Amino acid sequence: MTDATSTATTGADFVVVANRLLVDLERLPDGTQRRKSSPGGLVTALEPFLRSRHGAWVGWPGVPDSEVEPIADGDITLHPVTLSSAELTDYYEGFSNATLWPLYHDVVAPPVFHRHWWNAYVQVNERFATATAKVAGNGATVWVQDYQLQLVPRMLRRLRPDLRIGFFLHIPFPPVELFMQLPWRTELVRGLLGADLVGFQLAGGAQNFLFLARRLAGMSATKSAVGMGTRPGQVTVGDRTVRVGAFPISIDATALDKLARSRPIRQRAAEIRDELGNPATIVLGVDRLDYTKGIDVRLRALDELYAENRISADDVVMVQLATPSRERVEHYQRMRNDIEQAVSRINGEFGRVGHPAVHYLHQSMPRNELTSLFVAADVMLVTPVRDGMNLVAKEYVACRNDLSGTLVLSEFAGAAAELTSAFLVNPHDLDGIKNAIEAAITVDHEEGRRRMRALRRQVMTHDVQRWARSFLAALSAL
Ligand code: ADP
Ligand code: G6P
Repeated sequence: MTDATSTATTGADFVVVANRLLVDLERLPDGTQRRKSSPGGLVTALEPFLRSRHGAWVGWPGVPDSEVEPIADGDITLHPVTLSSAELTDYYEGFSNATLWPLYHDVVAPPVFHRHWWNAYVQVNERFATATAKVAGNGATVWVQDYQLQLVPRMLRRLRPDLRIGFFLHIPFPPVELFMQLPWRTELVRGLLGADLVGFQLAGGAQNFLFLARRLAGMSATKSAVGMGTRPGQVTVGDRTVRVGAFPISIDATALDKLARSRPIRQRAAEIRDELGNPATIVLGVDRLDYTKGIDVRLRALDELYAENRISADDVVMVQLATPSRERVEHYQRMRNDIEQAVSRINGEFGRVGHPAVHYLHQSMPRNELTSLFVAADVMLVTPVRDGMNLVAKEYVACRNDLSGTLVLSEFAGAAAELTSAFLVNPHDLDGIKNAIEAAITVDHEEGRRRMRALRRQVMTHDVQRWARSFLAALSAL
């Protein structure tokens, strides 16, 4: 009996494995540590679900070289996986975020291929698989998350064939032609096929994967239509069947709707309007500072709308929140400079003393403040050039119980498949974006309410609990 199997009998019967833990440890200048909420949509989506379910979460605590004991966080036990500084550079910043991230987002930035990054990716995936094998109880369900851990399903199955293993990819799965660029494409496909169920945001991603499984891993894949979580396709791997399907992720819509209706949030939203000088229209952008999010695109559109006097900075004010993200990766540094220059150019040109046209905050916001901003904003701009889902779009909709507010949404975000009543835009078509922003600002009252009602019908009925239930039901039906 290995170490892993001897501890397994007493382990957790439900385990989430993700690169990041729910919380990030932060080292303060005095050497002490503090916990803060982890950035990004993966944690936003999974936290409310896991809290209702109990279980264990295996992940990296957000700082390198940190040996941390398991942490009890409510009913969840967090099991930290240690990464060295070199692994952070090669596995996280390198292979995960400078190879896979751009490759899977339509190569909007050129992916970089280094063999030593790949070696670190293999090594760290092994470590996650070993840690999970130790934490999971006999016959447990393990749910592996996202592009950083695509080798874990196969590695884990080898260590613990008794487990039921699901995998969900939060980001887009690329077109076959792009995926084929990857020198380690076969290894990745085989890694994923270690799972019993492989889930994607959209049916297109699932279809791409089924095709690649057939082509690269020599597996037989049935061609059955891949529906929205309802009719998964299948791949036969030896004597196992791996199911493949689409499961569009969502938010805890009821909780956010309730928070947005609460008096303190409403009051703070009114204060925010006041602090912004009570403009006729507040336009909002909320993103991790990532080159896939199209922050530059929306700033360019706004700049031209001001310049052409189609809108005035006296009436239309923009707030752009940008959470710091992956700050040591070169592309992110360059993009931050570009965006900050664009903001100062717009303000230099169109602002007045005490009244900038664009309020730009390179900060992470507490949940309540962010919700107040969603309530205060009249127009929400979500313009990624590619995005797996984009939870921000759904969060804005959940905060608009009075049916006011308009959403401008990129067709290239996964959310566009569901949020068809938004003002949909092609993020590469600058004139189209300008027209959509103008239309969203000037929309007729009834038309705006009709659109928001339709958006809310979708978001309020397709929440994260439903997403998790449908994935886990498909996993347990095997
Ligand atoms: P991604 O996962 O790529 O970052 P999503 O839109 O799916 O994109 O999820 C982002 C999550 O991070 C959302 O829950 C959003 O509310 C949150 N978020 C984004 N920017 C900020 C910010 N500046 N402060 C706090 N939370 C933020
Ligand atoms: C996206 C990814 C997540 C990731 C998050 C934040 O949501 O799908 O896997 O955790 O961004 O990025 P970071 O690199 O800070 O973990």
